[in-house]
Amino acid sequence: MTPLSNLAVRDVETLVHPYTNLATLRESGPLVLERGRGIYVYDSNGTAYIEGMSGLWCTALGYGNEELAEAAAAQMRKLSFAHLFTGKSHDPAIELAEKLKEIAPVPTSKVFFCNSGSEANDTQIKLVWYMNNALGRPRKKKIISRLKAYHGVTVAAASLTGLPANQRDFDLPMAGILHAGCPHHYRFAHAGETEEEFATRLAAELAQMIEREGPDTVAAFIAEPVMGAGGVIVPPRTYFEKVGAVCRKYDVYVIADEVICGFGRLGTTFGCQSLGFAPDSISVAKALTSGYVPMAAVTVPEPMYQALLEESRKIGTFGHGFTYSGHPVAAAVALKALEIYARDRLVEAAAQKAPHFQARLQALGQHPLVGEARGRGLIGAVELVADKASKRSFQPSAAVAARAVRFAEEEGLMVRSLVGDAVSVCPPLVITPAEIDELFDRLCRALDRTLDWVRRERLQEA
Ligand SMILES: Cc1ncc(COP(=O)(O)O)c(C=O)c1O
Repeated sequence: MTPLSNLAVRDVETLVHPYTNLATLRESGPLVLERGRGIYVYDSNGTAYIEGMSGLWCTALGYGNEELAEAAAAQMRKLSFAHLFTGKSHDPAIELAEKLKEIAPVPTSKVFFCNSGSEANDTQIKLVWYMNNALGRPRKKKIISRLKAYHGVTVAAASLTGLPANQRDFDLPMAGILHAGCPHHYRFAHAGETEEEFATRLAAELAQMIEREGPDTVAAFIAEPVMGAGGVIVPPRTYFEKVGAVCRKYDVYVIADEVICGFGRLGTTFGCQSLGFAPDSISVAKALTSGYVPMAAVTVPEPMYQALLEESRKIGTFGHGFTYSGHPVAAAVALKALEIYARDRLVEAAAQKAPHFQARLQALGQHPLVGEARGRGLIGAVELVADKASKRSFQPSAAVAARAVRFAEEEGLMVRSLVGDAVSVCPPLVITPAEIDELFDRLCRALDRTLDWVRRERLQEA
């Protein structure tokens, strides 16, 4: 075992790392990054990596963007902080709300600002509850999410999330949150079921769940267009049309969690536009500022706004908001990011690069370790399996995807291991076709090294 560097020692003695095995980190130490430029990040030894995950699915414009840095600096000099409480306002928040209203894929009356995807989804739940109280239907409060969904980690958002590690021993999920089936055809379709048939069954199961609970108790349904942290799961064809129809039938409010898919990831401005998904509201974060500063938002349709208005008139205030809701620096950076997406036609560019990206991804499906290669636009994953024919997974304790991620790092590529031994890729939208080739060449070498290791350790044996 190589001794930890000074920075690494200071790290393990001071930080509780999110999403980390805190025990093994004490031995391995962290990978300390120092700077970034374009699609590359550099560690404290100067080693370069392709940031194949845009950090955490967020740095769409890559690193070191001077225009974003300048927008932040200029706003800090002009008005470093201002809030939106008690009737105060400021120009960047107003302008950003106008811009989001203009580009939102759903009828939007108002915008509410938050600082993270988790806060946005918590806010969605609170707005739906508040609205239904205002509308005199206090029983209509349950929220339906899906198994393997990822909506964040605050108490309500972690309850929406459908991944065991986010709930186990945190005493979650909280009451009133339900999980419908996961729309992953490769894993959950019945033998011989087509994508359309699978989608029909999932929608029927959703309807049964609503009937069982009582439609007058079910308030909302939330879904990521393409599930991210659950394994980059693209829903089967016709899925959103069918579950959308069920929600409309039972007057269930539909929320698209666009935290990953928003702003071009799937080759459309919002992910729902690529999948025939017609929500009532969206949550956005991450690429809203290209991850340069924290910011998130939820859109509020007019009927909901009218209900909020009445309820706040009755109570005397709309009692929700964060100190940094609509922070002027974050808003200024978001405005600049949106300007760059439009000016440089980055959504169209992402759509143009997507076939090449997806072709390189699909080619990995031939690799002996890969059970399924899946994705859309500029996001994808490979699911590593012990046996391709039977789709048998590796023992989770073998942590095969985590090992692949380590080999990828040694090849100069950052990717991420997700539940179910998926390895995900989600590079900055500004990646060039040549860089896409370099990314997949490195990933392929990492998978080859993983296969050698798997064979040496005899991990494919049943
Ligand atoms: C789809 C989705 N929703 C919500 C979140 C939570 O966002 P945050 O980590 O900013 O709270 C994430 C984070 O990855 C996400 O991918």
